[in-house]
Amino acid sequence: MCGIFGYAGNGDVCKILYQGLKSLEYRGYDSAGMAVVGDKLNFIKDSGTVDDVLTNITFPVNSVGIAHTRWATHGKPNKINAHPHLDEKNKVAVVHNGIIENYKQLKNQLIKKGHIFKSKTDTEVIPHLIEENLSLGNFEAFKKAVAQLKGSYAIACVIEGSNKIYFAKRFSPLVLGVNGDYFLASDIVSFLRWTKQVIFIEENDIGYLEKGNLYIENNGKQVNRRPNEIRWNFEEAAKEGYEHFMLKEIFEQPQAIAQTLADKRLISFSKHMSELDKLVITSAGTSFHAGLALKYVSSLPLEVIIASEFSELYRGGEVLSISQSGETADTLRAVRLAKSLDHKINALVNVVGSTLTRLADKVIYTHAGPEIGVASTKTFTSQLAALFQLNALMEGKTLPEINVNPILKKADEIHSISKTLSKSNDIFYLGRGVNTVTAMEGALKMKELAYLHAEAYPGGELKHGPLALIEESLPVVAICPSDQNRDKMLGNIEEVKSRGAFIIGLGYEKDEELIELSDKFVAMPAVDSSLTPLYYSIPLQMLSYYTAIELKRNPDKPRNLAKSVTVE
Ligand code: F6R
Repeated sequence: MCGIFGYAGNGDVCKILYQGLKSLEYRGYDSAGMAVVGDKLNFIKDSGTVDDVLTNITFPVNSVGIAHTRWATHGKPNKINAHPHLDEKNKVAVVHNGIIENYKQLKNQLIKKGHIFKSKTDTEVIPHLIEENLSLGNFEAFKKAVAQLKGSYAIACVIEGSNKIYFAKRFSPLVLGVNGDYFLASDIVSFLRWTKQVIFIEENDIGYLEKGNLYIENNGKQVNRRPNEIRWNFEEAAKEGYEHFMLKEIFEQPQAIAQTLADKRLISFSKHMSELDKLVITSAGTSFHAGLALKYVSSLPLEVIIASEFSELYRGGEVLSISQSGETADTLRAVRLAKSLDHKINALVNVVGSTLTRLADKVIYTHAGPEIGVASTKTFTSQLAALFQLNALMEGKTLPEINVNPILKKADEIHSISKTLSKSNDIFYLGRGVNTVTAMEGALKMKELAYLHAEAYPGGELKHGPLALIEESLPVVAICPSDQNRDKMLGNIEEVKSRGAFIIGLGYEKDEELIELSDKFVAMPAVDSSLTPLYYSIPLQMLSYYTAIELKRNPDKPRNLAKSVTVE
């Protein structure tokens, strides 16, 4: 986890590195640093955000540079562990995203040769390995170092006396923006303000760039990677007046869902799905919830497995991997394992060109645009829209029109409910059928954004244990649309209400009985029952967002979390 940014061109290197890195902060924000090189190597690093560490930095040398925003994996977030990491002579500076699995072994070998280490990171072995072989020439030394690494990495490196940035990629994202200048980054959003021309660095590519020159090789042979034009623009990725990206992304859901459903590839993909005798869905977090929701509504033989739990046990059928980023390490591991077991891989992904799209045999996309807030919102409802549409198409139908605009108008009302929730330590979410998944997703969002303990249960399970936890004033969020589960849900609501629970009911706007039982009520439009998770998860996103605001948490950057979980 971490963001890498490098620049070689005619602009102001320090300023461009700072601007690029700012857009990568969603990947990590516990420390930051940069190294700029020419005859001399200058660097700065510290714990803190990009603004804390890198505002208004200038260096006397201004040729090419690399920068990093960190999300700690090895070693605490502090100045010593921040990137760039250097050899003891400060000649080689490296920024890295990923995990070097054999770093302890390499570190011991290097210590025996007299190298002195400062940090607790896995990354620090890289500059020392490069420094060992500088007599071979910079690129040869870089290649020799990279050849010794096991694990995952996107690496950018600068070396004193050279105007080149050396880079390598294996299992961690690395892309290149091109407009005469070169922008090397963990993702496209960070350089969209300068260019839409993107070169996707492939697995095991290794190379260098400098003003006006790019060299890449793979397996010892020079390769020519051509730029692709990306349709996203920078404005799409900026906040546009919303206080947070998350709020903006919640409000972008009507468009994200519509764009996703407009993709004609859903039709051919549904035909492919209907020919399968088994589908194994494997994903993480919110994307896993989207897969689980499909299982409730589909007659297709389906298994849905959390990616980190996927193993050799799951045999037969094809795999569908769902991911916003296409870079989640658990998901990629599951997919690589599934490939080795001869599963065909299908993917539903938001980020075009991401690693998952390149591993998959067939890819369909959610067209939600860039999602910057750490919590998935518009990509979740877009995933649901795509999956529910695929299911409808397999049954020879299409989804009814989706209009979530009336729910977005309830922001103020939901904000006022969140004031009550923010005073609680524990919250229960209840649903039945497919809305058990809505409850799980609602509780996940509350945990990650407001840091409140939130438990999701199928209403029927309450009496088998958790009912013992219900006490006076405990908030219970009851997802109770007017579907086949409504009457039983009302019974469950009665059970908790009679034990003093504070009921936040979500249901059909004219459901008088539910209105009567609820202490607070969120009135929802009439919705086809198979679509209820898509509609009902939106007020739950808002509830978590506003509870986080009430508790003065930053919903775009929840503590301990990062957008793209690129480590297992
Ligand atoms: C929660 C959330 C995460 C992600 C998970 C998988 O709001 O966003 O649980 O859903 O880390 O990420 P992707 O979909 O990028 O594979």
